[in-house]
Amino acid sequence: MNTKGIVNFTPGPSQIYFTVEDHMRAAFKEGIPSLSHRTSEFERISQRATEGVKELLGVPVGFHVFFTSSATEIWERSIQNLVINKSLHYVNGAFSKRYFEIAAQLGKSPVKFEVPQGKGFSVIESIEQDVELIALTHNETSTGVSLPMNFVHSFKEKYKDALIVVDSVSSIPYPQYDFSKIDSLFFSVQKGFGLLFPPYCNTPKKIRHRKHPTCWEFIYWVKYVKIFCEGEFKSSERKQNIKQLFYTRH
Ligand SMILES: Cc1ncc(COP(=O)(O)O)c(C=O)c1O
Repeated sequence: MNTKGIVNFTPGPSQIYFTVEDHMRAAFKEGIPSLSHRTSEFERISQRATEGVKELLGVPVGFHVFFTSSATEIWERSIQNLVINKSLHYVNGAFSKRYFEIAAQLGKSPVKFEVPQGKGFSVIESIEQDVELIALTHNETSTGVSLPMNFVHSFKEKYKDALIVVDSVSSIPYPQYDFSKIDSLFFSVQKGFGLLFPPYCNTPKKIRHRKHPTCWEFIYWVKYVKIFCEGEFKSSERKQNIKQLFYTRH
């Protein structure tokens, strides 16, 4: 299929950025994909990728950047780590619905506001009580409907105790987030970025307040911080993603 020139915010196919091929060739020529993740060279690559993401998106001090395997992993990890009982989901298509379903499958008691496919949200209708996490999908990829930024940013004031988690998988790097109004943002690069592989980034801020004994998966949240912020490269799982992002940005 000829996908040349197709740029969209729905499931695709989507045109990769025109310089990606050259970056990939350069990376292979220099042996980057075979580089050990325990080397200082790889640490430098990871650090530059992290700094690049922070600079590009204006991520302020106090947020961490993680590179994970997929958005599905973040759906699961965020619910496992940050919710004891109740998350609130704004559902308007397949992806926002899947986040809600995962919360239910993980034994939580999620609630949702749902509108038909093709529709969006623009105002907070009513305030749900005891919500620990609010899940917003900035661009619902299944329909291409985006939430207005002032809507995304309006939750913080109304829900003082809830974490605002935004799925921006298919819209980053286009929206400009006010990080004082959200707690966590995750995205991929194979959509709006126009790259090949899907490194995901997540910027949770208040995670330390959400440690709770029933949830062993919290270990992984802490582990992410250790791996990506404190240079503990004991796992090779995510190194290809980081290398790829690095090579496409430099
Ligand atoms: C908005 C949104 N969220 C989550 C996902 C899931 O991503 P993954 O397939 O990498 O788990 C996608 C995938 O297209 C998506 O578009």
